[in-house]
Amino acid sequence: MKLLIVGGGGREHAIAQCVAKSPRADKIYCAPGNAGIGQIAECVPIGAMEFEKLTAFAVEKKIDLVIVGPDDPLAGGLVDVMEAAGLRVFGPRKNAAILEGSKAFSKDLMKKYHIPTAAYENFDDPEAALAYLEQAKMPVVLKADGLALGKGVLICQNLEEAKAGVRTIMQDRKFGDAGSRMVIEEFMTGREVSVLSFVDGKTIKIMSSAQDHKRARDGDQGLNTGGMGTFSPSPFYTKEVDAACRRYIYQATVDAMAAEGRPFQGVIFFGLMLTQDGPKVLEYNARFGDPEAQVVLPRMKNDIIDVMEACIDGTLDRIDLQFEDNAAVCVVLASQGYPEAYDKGLAIRGLERFEGADGYYCFHAGTKREGEKIVTNGGRVLGITAKGADLKEARANAYRATEWVDFDNKYMRHDIGRAIDEA
Ligand code: AMP
Ligand code: GLY
Repeated sequence: MKLLIVGGGGREHAIAQCVAKSPRADKIYCAPGNAGIGQIAECVPIGAMEFEKLTAFAVEKKIDLVIVGPDDPLAGGLVDVMEAAGLRVFGPRKNAAILEGSKAFSKDLMKKYHIPTAAYENFDDPEAALAYLEQAKMPVVLKADGLALGKGVLICQNLEEAKAGVRTIMQDRKFGDAGSRMVIEEFMTGREVSVLSFVDGKTIKIMSSAQDHKRARDGDQGLNTGGMGTFSPSPFYTKEVDAACRRYIYQATVDAMAAEGRPFQGVIFFGLMLTQDGPKVLEYNARFGDPEAQVVLPRMKNDIIDVMEACIDGTLDRIDLQFEDNAAVCVVLASQGYPEAYDKGLAIRGLERFEGADGYYCFHAGTKREGEKIVTNGGRVLGITAKGADLKEARANAYRATEWVDFDNKYMRHDIGRAIDEA
């Protein structure tokens, strides 16, 4: 069959790599893709937000299955536009992608259906938000309502910082229209775990757990980023945690969306915090995590096309989702300066070292081809992933492989997976 993957980052490369393993895939297109994806798929120069062009392309090429990777086109309704043109699409419709697209929506959903999460209030008036803060317990967490590239969250230690935060989000609109509404919520403490799942509207199947490292610098210092590295599984995601999540969170979320007339088909990503009072939802995403996908998908045993089709057809209950009994670690190679200012167009050397290296993956996040060369084209450049029998071995393998490639201004965290040692 013919497939089209929408997006062009490390997540989409991991999806493409998984799709390419399927004997059912005859031809893979990716829009817009990147230099790494271009080695296993045909890249098409159409942006993920160019809905009309993407749809026309998919219709013309008689695409059998479209897979939408990033949050923006999902929240914007690409799935609805494509379905209206008769295409089969993996990913939530607009009315379900709101689970990620609006934090106020997701918080209200959790409250209504008693899904454990931090206590909160929603605001669309900055004065009301400021007044509320006067009696709020510190630290407090401020969140812009809409999509803000994972950056619209401020953790404020005291009243002054919190008031300044409200102004930043709602008045200065630092995160754009995402800040026309905001959530103010209770600060929670605990370990964070990412859990991805496949959902067909009524049935949910949980993938292997993972943990992200969001801050730019070692020791969780520096600015928040899209993610500097991941490992899977998380040793903190125990059988007891899993049981609690299955009882109070996973199916409850799927059922809540169905009850609201917003059946969810695609991937739900649960950002969880393991608190003293049990697991609570930090946030939902309506897509694979990036770079969570880079450590979870290489460990999946199923044919991803079968699983995605089951999500679309409502037959996920018949799928036995299985993961390898091993571990994977992904270390992101970024350009020095990310997530702020950084150079692009720097030549990348050593990529060929990954060819035929079993259990090693070099997922491209921000790269492009320039003539014979592959050059950097973003802040996060590559996701170096390796498997191992256990997390320690996977981590050693991944860090060894980070030495295989080089580019000017190459930057990485050196403590990805340090938490493994505390498990
Ligand atoms: P989010 O985009 O909602 O996942 O928030 C980004 C990051 O902010 C999370 O990964 C947490 O590290 C942190 N965070 C968000 N909400 C809270 C909270 N209620 N308490 C403590 N930390 C939080
Ligand atoms: N790695 C976090 C995310 O994809 O949102």
